[in-house]
Amino acid sequence: MQYKILSLLDENDFISGEKIAETLGVSRTAVWKNINRLKTEGYKIESSTKKGYHLIKENYPYNKFEITRNLNTSLIAKECIFYEETGSSNEEAKKISNIKVTDGLCVVADMQTSGKGRLGRVWQSPKGKNIYFSICLVPNITPMEAPQITLMAGIAVCRAINDSFGLSAKIKWPNDIIVNNKKICGILTEISAEIDSIKYIVCGIGINANVETFSDELKNKATSLKLELNCEIDRAAFLCSVLKKIEYYYDIFLKSNGISGFIDEYRLNCINIGQNCTALFKGSSVSGIVKDIDDNGNLILEKENGERLNIFSGEVTLRRCDGSYI
Ligand code: BTN
Repeated sequence: MQYKILSLLDENDFISGEKIAETLGVSRTAVWKNINRLKTEGYKIESSTKKGYHLIKENYPYNKFEITRNLNTSLIAKECIFYEETGSSNEEAKKISNIKVTDGLCVVADMQTSGKGRLGRVWQSPKGKNIYFSICLVPNITPMEAPQITLMAGIAVCRAINDSFGLSAKIKWPNDIIVNNKKICGILTEISAEIDSIKYIVCGIGINANVETFSDELKNKATSLKLELNCEIDRAAFLCSVLKKIEYYYDIFLKSNGISGFIDEYRLNCINIGQNCTALFKGSSVSGIVKDIDDNGNLILEKENGERLNIFSGEVTLRRCDGSYI
């Protein structure tokens, strides 16, 4: 009910309680209670005795309604769960999928108390600042091909940042999005599988949106949209754009049976190609020049002796040759 009232407020500059009650066939008291509920959720609603209620159309709260109101996707986030706080949206998505798998399910959190990064790292997830979400997908691919979902999500976030803000976002293979040489987004893909078939994939994405300070360890390596753009980001509207891009690239992924439909675009946006770097590969460190990302999403690293390694995205951490991560 409160969101029907919200839609009316959105459509009208001013609207009286009486008109809302009449339009929705409810009592004036019900209107008043729901207006108060909306205010508690963070909507700024003014009232004037003569003209009625007026919604201030800025600084909308971050909730499921705002994220999905303009979504219009046919798979991604058709089912969406929003938590004010959870341990980890990936863990939550896995818990739900272990009971019932829903292709396209999206779990969003406003805060994570145990946000997970790759390689057992912690993903800082303060409340009210950033974007943390996980998508459950059920593509008909083998477990070996599952890391390609990280590449799909990477190009989707990269394009969403470019198109929404005009920032030059790039992909650091396989799972980081970089702006101005600093990490702005990380992707953690996890799978539940039998030997040769996938039960589900959970692709978790963390985007630094409005955070302004980082720990000493991260401050030279990480950035946020707010720091880059000097303005507060509407997280719900931007997450909606990201979800639309994921649907766009996932659709290509399904239709072309893998990443071939967008690998050229991926290559163009990948900062590793042509760079010297060191990969932690099967427990030991190898250095060389990144020659390409192949059609399976593997990184081709050419060592000094000319030997080429085909590095599978599930098993590597890349560093610049000076030892720094970007
Ligand atoms: C990385 O770069 O190390 C990957 C970071 C992935 C963070 C996201 S935030 C949403 C989802 N839930 C988690 O616990 N982790 C991922």
